[in-house]
Amino acid sequence: MRAQRIGRRAVLSGLGAGLVLASPGNGTTAGSKPIGLRAIAASRGLAYGAALGLRSVDEDQALADAYTRECAVLVPEGDAKWAGLRPAAGVFRFDGLDRLLGIADRHGQSVRGHTLLWHEALPAWVPEALRAGQGYDILSDHIFTVVGRYRGRIPVWDVVNEAVAPDEGREDGLRPTPWLRALGPRCLDLAFKAARAADPGAVLMLNDHDLEYASPLQDRRRRAVLRLLETLLARGVPVDGLGLQSHLRIGRPFDPRILHRFIGEVGGLGLMVMITELDVGDAAVTGDIPTRDQAVADHASAFLDTVLDHACVKAVTCWGLSDRQSWLHHHPAGWRPDGQPMRPLPLDVELRPKPLWQALGDAFRNAPKRSSAAWMPG
Ligand code: G3I
Repeated sequence: MRAQRIGRRAVLSGLGAGLVLASPGNGTTAGSKPIGLRAIAASRGLAYGAALGLRSVDEDQALADAYTRECAVLVPEGDAKWAGLRPAAGVFRFDGLDRLLGIADRHGQSVRGHTLLWHEALPAWVPEALRAGQGYDILSDHIFTVVGRYRGRIPVWDVVNEAVAPDEGREDGLRPTPWLRALGPRCLDLAFKAARAADPGAVLMLNDHDLEYASPLQDRRRRAVLRLLETLLARGVPVDGLGLQSHLRIGRPFDPRILHRFIGEVGGLGLMVMITELDVGDAAVTGDIPTRDQAVADHASAFLDTVLDHACVKAVTCWGLSDRQSWLHHHPAGWRPDGQPMRPLPLDVELRPKPLWQALGDAFRNAPKRSSAAWMPG
């Protein structure tokens, strides 16, 4: 695999030419005050937001302002993961998450916590503790401490992240993580129950990836997720909803009927659904910037129109807000054959709305109005 590192400067210079400016009259302003996606979504009972890595806004007031304008929900991209919170077994480092909560409070935003039980972003001491038989204690202690600290202030948690991997050999379709190997499938029960006990009012989510397309693998993944949700609910485990990460990739086979049916099945279990990490990869699209951006928007539109048709879908968050900051710039999943940076997010590197911004706004405006969830910012 070829090495490719793209710094912010390269992203800025590489994308500076040919950007699509938001056209006048596209709904981005009311008088002189720009209208953000948060307001458009709220008008239909939906919450819109984006993941935020604090370092991206620390010296970038324009990006911070864009978050304020566009987002009703902030998701800590790294600060609520074990790697962010737990440098050592006896140490909790809350400064990042506290700071993010402070930003949200100042701007009337809500926060979705991400994430409490995941096999990635684990500090080195965790696998050691698991091997030493301390799994139950460290997991329950972590969740009680973290969720308890933010009780009443973080209304939604991605409690479990990426739980299924049906092709990895287990009959139950669960991903064989270090947590699962140490504690068995009951690690999922423990995580949800500890979170419920620590904050009885919080909405508790299972968050998973690759559930959106019509491929045989994603079909198996959808079945594994449904089966897991049914099993958890039958055991009395307090799970309230499913997050579809929705890292979309143009060129993958999309069948709206399949996705629509799946979300209906999840909603039929009495669960809410959120689109949690939306971005659109365009590695398969050749052509100039306007062509690529339009393809991204069209792909997102087909997806959003399908999912938002269901009233159980309450929120959409993108994994970043501007092309300045996507994780795809630092990951092989984001490499294009022509070496150009991806353009996966609603705002361009100059923070101008792209066709994807417009697609989100149109999808929100066209969505059936739903009752907003109690945790949404007013
Ligand atoms: O903070 C260190 C920095 O000190 C160090 O110099 C640098 C060297 O590489 O690494 C920095 O940490 C990185 C961190 O992001 C902050 O930028 C980690 O290496 C890197 O692994 C980490 O990646 C994050 C990844 O999750 C793992 O936590 C991505 O930003 C984040 O976007 C990604 O998000 C995940 C979701 O949580 C779950 N779904 C998939 C999604 C994309 O992978």
